[in-house]
Amino acid sequence: MPIPERFVDEVIARSEIAEVVGEYVSLNRKGGSLWGCCPFHSEKTPSFHVVPDRQMYKCFGCGKGGGVINFIMEIESLSFVEAVAFLAKRAGLQMPENTGESAAYRQKRQRLLELNKEAARFFHGKLYEPCGRAGLDYLTNRGLSKGTLTRFGLGYAPDSWDGIITAMAEKGYDKSELLEGGLVVRNQNGRVYDRFRNRVMFPIIDVRGEVIGFGGRVLDASEPKYLNSPDTPVYNKSRNLFALNIAKKSKQGRIILTEGYMDTISLHQAGFDCAVASLGTSLTAEHAQLISRYTGQAVIAYDGDGAGMAAAQRAIPILEKTGLKVKVLRVTGAKDPDEFIKAFGREAFSKLIDRSENHIEYRLIQLKSKYDLSDDGQKVEFLAAAAELVAGLQSPVEREIYGARAAEAAEISAEAMKQEVKRALSRRIRKEKKQEERKNLAPARAFQPDERSLQYENIRSARAEEGVLRLMLLDPTLFQGCPLKQEQFSSPLLGKVYGLLKKRYEAGMSVQLPSLAEELTGAEMSHMAKVAEAPESLAEAAQALGDYISVIETEGLKRTAVSDGDALLAAREKYRQNKAYGG
Ligand code: UTP
Ligand code: MN
Repeated sequence: MPIPERFVDEVIARSEIAEVVGEYVSLNRKGGSLWGCCPFHSEKTPSFHVVPDRQMYKCFGCGKGGGVINFIMEIESLSFVEAVAFLAKRAGLQMPENTGESAAYRQKRQRLLELNKEAARFFHGKLYEPCGRAGLDYLTNRGLSKGTLTRFGLGYAPDSWDGIITAMAEKGYDKSELLEGGLVVRNQNGRVYDRFRNRVMFPIIDVRGEVIGFGGRVLDASEPKYLNSPDTPVYNKSRNLFALNIAKKSKQGRIILTEGYMDTISLHQAGFDCAVASLGTSLTAEHAQLISRYTGQAVIAYDGDGAGMAAAQRAIPILEKTGLKVKVLRVTGAKDPDEFIKAFGREAFSKLIDRSENHIEYRLIQLKSKYDLSDDGQKVEFLAAAAELVAGLQSPVEREIYGARAAEAAEISAEAMKQEVKRALSRRIRKEKKQEERKNLAPARAFQPDERSLQYENIRSARAEEGVLRLMLLDPTLFQGCPLKQEQFSSPLLGKVYGLLKKRYEAGMSVQLPSLAEELTGAEMSHMAKVAEAPESLAEAAQALGDYISVIETEGLKRTAVSDGDALLAAREKYRQNKAYGG
């Protein structure tokens, strides 16, 4: 059974779009709408706006748009039903029962989250029981204060095959649930036992504050050093970052990205509350997106060894793609940030951040290490690659500075490098110009939906159809006595929207686009957000509607009446022209 439409409307009504979006994007008021940097594509100047009057958002950059449900579907990667449930929970509304499979799935997720919370409580409690003494000693020996243990909810998994099984059974969770939550494993003989044994436990908490998984570290040198939860219905390691739940509230204006749990925890304890760690995986585009929601700058603070440097190198473009400013911090004299802080203290780390190279410098160094500059051929290749890199910089001053730096590295004259950069720059500009020209070729393009499959066949009619929909959205009573039928629309999408809105009007429900989140695809909704954006006045609504209808009918006749000798059409055209010329 689908979710009742009235419930969906209730959820929309209780989810003020500016508030919901504001939880992800920092918005500034300008005129009647709110502006911010789009969370769906990388940008540095805001082209994403929210119009509270219409309860819609729209990005002029990437074209995404819609209502509050679409926003949550998009940003949380949820289905329609899940997004409604998400917003319902936020608004304190009880989801209606029996809404099909997705509801069952939602309930399952909910239960797994509760299970994880119980498990985290269990592990944390063990730290202070005699059987957890070894865990507490281990963490204390690594310099963690009691406050830090509490803040991160760290714990200890006892050295037992059924510690978590027994404890969770008492709370009403069976083995199959524990399996699904990744807390236990099943061996070939079908025996089920605790996944985490004799390990200190690091709960992984998402940005909403839910415990979604765990990492567990051995107390000695045995292998594997860290054991992590597998992906489960509530946990995906490519989409979550350790400690982001705390770092997202940091006032330090950046995120420090580390490789390990302990690095991040050490940094927090030393006052760097903006540290996060990826979880036993290299940085993904999803991680980068997630970070860019909360800050504009990322400082990569990976291990100082070759592997760490290589990982930093890979992370730079991924982070940059989202519009983040990237710096790379190099840990020297210690293996990783955790050991660095222990050895040299927080002040020294603070200096490392200040001195951290902006990525271009870092990349030049990396680039240089790939070429043997004593070989003339390789030197030329290095030069070309370096010039390409430098040409990508926005400011001429930067190009000058880093061009000179690259020249120095390759022991060539700054002038020669300048020429090389100039050539790379003009190649770049030519390429961009060509792309721009291609964009401007078709004038009707701006009006057409971005999505190919939605393109209008009859622009003239489509303009009028859009006008009709805008009027109806502004004043739904115009549906009363409006003779238009869905089939008369030349655009299937606009016709469908007309039909849906009309049905809602007749059923006495709210006539608004955000309610159509289930019926329209993301691309369709994005286009409708653009349609709703265009100016439309209710001043002469009846007259305007009449004109629109007349255009739609005429264009419709052109389509269907070709075989009828076009008599009626000819008559109408004549009438229109007379009217236009004041006759
Ligand atoms: P490291 O081996 O660099 O360990 O792994 P570390 O962070 O310095 O840990 P400590 O200081 O010895 O406790 C970095 C990260 O890689 C993942 C973990 O997320 C770890 O924090 N990892 C490492 C695993 O997932 N499994 C492993 O066996 C080892
Ligand atoms: Mn370490």
